[in-house]
Amino acid sequence: MSGSNDHIDDKARRYGKQAIVAAAERLQSGGLVAVPTETVYGLAADSTNAGAIAEIYRTKGRPDFNPLIVHVPNIDAARKLGLFNDLANKLAKIFWPGPLTLVVPKTSDCPVAPAVTAGLETIALRCPAHPLMQELLATSGLFLAAPSANKSGGISPTKPEHVKHSLGKAAPMILDGGPCESGIESTIVAIRDHDYQILRPGPITAEDLETSTGKVALNQTGEKIEAPGQLASHYAPSKPVRLDAMQPEPEEYYIGFGAIAGDFNLSVSGDLAEAATNLFASLHDADASDRPHIAIAPIPRSGIGAAINDRLKRAAQKD
Ligand code: TXA
Ligand code: MG
Repeated sequence: MSGSNDHIDDKARRYGKQAIVAAAERLQSGGLVAVPTETVYGLAADSTNAGAIAEIYRTKGRPDFNPLIVHVPNIDAARKLGLFNDLANKLAKIFWPGPLTLVVPKTSDCPVAPAVTAGLETIALRCPAHPLMQELLATSGLFLAAPSANKSGGISPTKPEHVKHSLGKAAPMILDGGPCESGIESTIVAIRDHDYQILRPGPITAEDLETSTGKVALNQTGEKIEAPGQLASHYAPSKPVRLDAMQPEPEEYYIGFGAIAGDFNLSVSGDLAEAATNLFASLHDADASDRPHIAIAPIPRSGIGAAINDRLKRAAQKD
């Protein structure tokens, strides 16, 4: 799931202390900063500042019913915002810092602006592993609300240039951590008393969760869109996308996998973690190419392949 620490240290070095202090000051005065995490780039703001949160929604063109994830430096900070039962504590201890978001009931004195949770009684909390984001949390002393740093409904950014391209003139200061390691958004798990439900598949797989809790996730009811970012069409390029394509049609930009070469190969060796890292970059490249259509080779559904296929299905949905 994660690479060597040397790689992470390299990323941290891309941006110096001065820039982190400048970014922290911007956040403290209610501004926005785009910041790398181990999953995708986030558009961060002080979660307790209603004006700053309104600016996140405006910049992304995000519907106000779609709540934000709040990023915290550690589990003690998380407990100021959300109520952690035994199961939540266990998952946080095992997977934090890392690409797991926990949806738990809000504390009675939860200080985040109401718009962050879009009127829900629950809050989505994540303790990110990326050293730049961790440094920003420590330096600013803030709990940072941060959705992915792209226009609502678009492809999540895994490189600084994706942020610039997606947000255009509205792009704020970007802390450059190079490409994101996991490349796919965090797994979202809602705690349901002594059980849990996977609201969004991600780098922490269903198998990882089962092994660590000794429990299978509750079924999705499918009736209610509880994580509204899970609307059918999401992560969508501007061009039509064809899935499970064994070969390209003329006019198609072809994204391959393993032995199936293409204009872009997600992983020549057929490694699913590598494919996840490259997935959004491949969609950004396909969108920017001169080909009017996109086709993608079949990707196995095991492990993190579940999250990859989830994002692909949404990329291929029209609305
Ligand atoms: O990896 C990630 O999670 C990235 C990085 C930046 O941390 N963030 C991210 O945020 O993907 P965003 O806003 O693109 O997706 C957040 C998802 C949405 O689907 C939203 O509906 C869901 O989290 N969410 C937030 N609060 C929730 C809550 N209280 N209950 C259920 N779902 C919630
Ligand atoms: Mg997003």
